[in-house]
Amino acid sequence: MFSEKISSITPSMTISISTKVAELRSQGENIINLSIGEPDFLTPKSAKDKANWAIDNDKTKYDKAAGLLELREAICKKLKDENGLTYSTSQIIISSGAKHSITNTLLAFLNQGDEVIIPKPYWTSYPEMVKLVGGVPILVDTKPENNYKLTVDELASAITPHTKLLLINNPSNPAGTVYTKDELTPIVNYAIEHNLFILADEIYERICYTGEFTSIASISEEVKKKTILVNGLSKSAAMTGWRLGYVACEEEIAKTLSKIQGHLVSHPSTISQWAGLGALEDGHEEMQDMIVQYKKRRDEAIKLLNTNDKIKLVYPDGAFYLFMDVSAYKDKLQLNSSNSSYSIELCNQLLEKEKVALVPGAAFGMDDFIRMSYAADIEDVKEGVRRLISFLDSL
Ligand SMILES: Cc1ncc(COP(=O)(O)O)c(C=O)c1O
Repeated sequence: MFSEKISSITPSMTISISTKVAELRSQGENIINLSIGEPDFLTPKSAKDKANWAIDNDKTKYDKAAGLLELREAICKKLKDENGLTYSTSQIIISSGAKHSITNTLLAFLNQGDEVIIPKPYWTSYPEMVKLVGGVPILVDTKPENNYKLTVDELASAITPHTKLLLINNPSNPAGTVYTKDELTPIVNYAIEHNLFILADEIYERICYTGEFTSIASISEEVKKKTILVNGLSKSAAMTGWRLGYVACEEEIAKTLSKIQGHLVSHPSTISQWAGLGALEDGHEEMQDMIVQYKKRRDEAIKLLNTNDKIKLVYPDGAFYLFMDVSAYKDKLQLNSSNSSYSIELCNQLLEKEKVALVPGAAFGMDDFIRMSYAADIEDVKEGVRRLISFLDSL
């Protein structure tokens, strides 16, 4: 009944875990949920105030497909001040979340069968989004000695005459790794020399603990021309439910994205866009405080994890995830179901026995791993790590 394209799409594992957690909680179970990629902080007051102001002042009608001019101006200012990037408002397209910005971009670029290079581990939705628009995800292995970051050689071996885009997520979900400028430069230069466009998902940009985030478009004018920069307010401003993402790119690409968006959804909610303006104009302090809290939690969790030398943590410099290689326990885990993978089974048993919800590495293309989010209360994060260690040691 359904199209072949849709039949090849797998449901989101992270969403099915959240559903399971909600189910268990409704049965009275006390679950520590460290599975979700959602800030536990509240949306900044400045954003909420601006949304209330928008409602009270009847800012509730259709607006431009590219998004509210005032918000695009604020985004241009942010890109200039924080990333040293000059864009005009005609180069910004605001969408309903970074997810939507990415799918609009894929729709704009991909013909049937065109390939998109995606380094592993990858954010769970990328391959499915590519397939949804008729493209082919090319998943590329990365190495532990490079902290699971892509290298030029790995990129070179994945390029074919059908490659259209390179997708780089920096800082990374799930690994939390952050590329340095020196690491990024040869990769993106190689990509543009081979006529690829770069889809740079920088949604976790502000959650970076090294103080040295490099936006790909800032590497050179040539790179900027070929980069579709994706960012948004979901993670940095704890505005997940408001659904606000944006793209900065060349004007010709922006026009195409606007055309697509105009037909599909017109534009994101006008009230949300005003709220986003409030966050960008006056929410800086609250956002900075969130990052201080994330860093504290990360450091506490790492301290506890370091008491176990069998768990191999990918050291995270950004985002709010801990990605752990737990392959040392592979031989010890009894699979309860023959069609389950190692990481899925491990997470199922951890949830059943220790009431801690994590995400199996299989969701990110790496079955030897599990992902823990520390976008949660610090005591829950510490208790979650303790229970994980105790569970693994009991196998
Ligand atoms: C890497 C990455 N990109 C994009 C998104 C989607 O963000 P949004 O909620 O703004 O659509 C997420 C959300 O988890 C993410 O982790």
